[in-house]
Amino acid sequence: MQDKLNINKPPHIPIMLNEILSAFKGLKEGVIIDATVGFGGHSEALLNANEKIKLIACDQDLEALSFARQRLAKFKDRVQFHHCNFSRLLQGIDTREVKGILADLGVSSWQLDSDKRGFSVNSSTLDMRMNAKSETSAFELVNYAPQSELEGILKDFGELKEAKNLAFKICQTRKGGQIQSGKDLASIIGFDKLSGRSVSKAVLVFQALRIAVNDELNALQSLLTSIKNARLSGCVLAIICFHSLEDRLVKNAFKEWAKSCICPKFALRCTCQNNHNLGKILTKKPLRPSEAELIINSRSSSAKLRLFCFNEV
Ligand SMILES: C[S@@+](CC[C@H](N)C(=O)[O-])C[C@H]1O[C@@H](n2cnc3c(N)ncnc32)[C@H](O)[C@@H]1O
Repeated sequence: MQDKLNINKPPHIPIMLNEILSAFKGLKEGVIIDATVGFGGHSEALLNANEKIKLIACDQDLEALSFARQRLAKFKDRVQFHHCNFSRLLQGIDTREVKGILADLGVSSWQLDSDKRGFSVNSSTLDMRMNAKSETSAFELVNYAPQSELEGILKDFGELKEAKNLAFKICQTRKGGQIQSGKDLASIIGFDKLSGRSVSKAVLVFQALRIAVNDELNALQSLLTSIKNARLSGCVLAIICFHSLEDRLVKNAFKEWAKSCICPKFALRCTCQNNHNLGKILTKKPLRPSEAELIINSRSSSAKLRLFCFNEV
């Protein structure tokens, strides 16, 4: 675990960087929104690759955003920074020039590795807030949420069959005193691997709590809706997901947007003029990290990249 940031050593390796660069290669000019700038790895490479583009960088994590500010300072007024949740980002900016949007979802390596952020099964704290100013931390949920709420979180966001038992176990343990750290919580849950899966119960419990603490699925759904409503002419959208719950939201949104016919399912023939698609899906199946990337960065292993291009209007 580390706890000090060094501007010369970014603590996060950008995932599927080559694939992201080629997704935006066709852009001649305009603005790219990096909705999850993190430590600025993707943003820096995109700004280096095309000196005509500008970039809007957003993150809800102030620690990451201030690192990205320093890293990207050399690009001067080509970059604008926003500290906010991406669910609200499009409300606050001029979207007329936006030709690309990148969302590299989930957590950064720094958030996972930094002891004080309390995201990890090895940490001596229990926090998991991406935005340190938001109200509810993992500590609050684990120690004070009703058992039924915990069970729902573990079932819905961890897809854990044992959600009921695990919620019971947590609630029994906390009767004897607060659960203070990631380490404590992990030892209550245990590290046994789930049958037929490579992850342990503890990892899924932590994933579930993190999704709940940061309201990740609602934020992603709001981002998708705001992008759809913004009608961004000719804009390329690239989204990297790390678990099936978020990937499902993205896949379904892209499918819906690409639909030409909006007649009811039971209609005998099409009467809607069959011209309602907002654009096209560029990746029939999600792109996955290359073998070479997997060797250098095992954290890329669950990444799935989906691309969509909106029609010119
Ligand atoms: C995987 S990291 C991005 C890493 C970045 N692409 C890089 O190259 O350094 C994901 C980032 O998204 C941010 N994030 C996640 N959900 C967010 C949301 N709803 N609004 C704003 N930022 C969010 C996290 O704080 C984190 O810094």
